[in-house]
Amino acid sequence: MKLYICKDYDAMSAKAADVVASVITLKPDCILGLATGSTPVGMYQKLAEMNKAGKLDFAEVKTYNLDEYYPIKPTNDQSYRYFMDKNLFDNINIDKANTHLLNGEAVDTDAECAAYDKAIEAAGGIDIQVLGIGNNGHIGFNEPDSELVAATHKTGLTESTIQANSRFFASADEVPRHALTMGMAPIMKARKIIILISGKNKHEVLMGLLSGKITTQNPATMLNMHPDVTVVCDEDAYNG
Ligand code: GLP
Repeated sequence: MKLYICKDYDAMSAKAADVVASVITLKPDCILGLATGSTPVGMYQKLAEMNKAGKLDFAEVKTYNLDEYYPIKPTNDQSYRYFMDKNLFDNINIDKANTHLLNGEAVDTDAECAAYDKAIEAAGGIDIQVLGIGNNGHIGFNEPDSELVAATHKTGLTESTIQANSRFFASADEVPRHALTMGMAPIMKARKIIILISGKNKHEVLMGLLSGKITTQNPATMLNMHPDVTVVCDEDAYNG
C-alpha cells in the first residue's frame, strides 16, 4: 500500500487528481470507478481544471459509480447522479452516455445489481477505483457488519451513516434508508485503487486501514489484500 500524507485537503485533492490523471493519460479509454461524498469534490474540481486547460481528455473515458441511494429519483438534488453531474460530468468533456450509476428507481433491484456487475466486466473491468471512506470504515455503502457481500447489492444504511449523511438533507428523516452499492468483489477487482481520507473524524478508520489487520467491522481494511492501493490522506486524518 502506498501512502501519501498531504498537508491539507487541497494538497490531498491535487495529489489524488494527479494519480487519476496519470491513468487517463496512459489509457485515454480507461474505465474509472468513481465515488461521491464530500471528500473527492476537490479532486473532481482539479480534474475539471486540467480538462479545461487542455491537459486531460475525457472524450473516451467511461465511468461506473460505486453506489446510489434507494429509492431516489436521479433528479433529486441528493441523488448521486445529480452529485456527479454537478461536481464532475457537467464540467468535463465526457459523453454522458459513458457515465453509469446504479438506478435508484429500479423495480427489480437484484436484476439491476447483477446487470451492473456484468456491464463492468463486459467493459473490461475498472482501471482505477476512487474511494472515500465513511466514519465507520464503509466503502461505497458496504457497511461494517459480521459479513460483507461480494456482489453488487441492495443494502440498509447503518444509523451512524444516516446521521453522518443527514448533513446534506433537510433532516435525518429524509435520508433514504437503503442504497444500491457495488459489493466488495467489483471494488477489489479494480486494477488500481485510490482511497482519499480527510479530516480528524476519519483518523480511527485510517489507523485501522494502516494497521494491516483485516476486519469486516472496518470494510476498508479489506484493501490490505489488494496489490495496488494508494492511500492519499491529509495531516488531520493521519495525526488525528
Ligand atoms: C457516503 C458514500 C461513500 C463515501 C462516504 C464518506 O456514505 N456512500 O462512498 O465515501 O459517504 O463521505 P464524506 O467524504 O462526505 O465523508
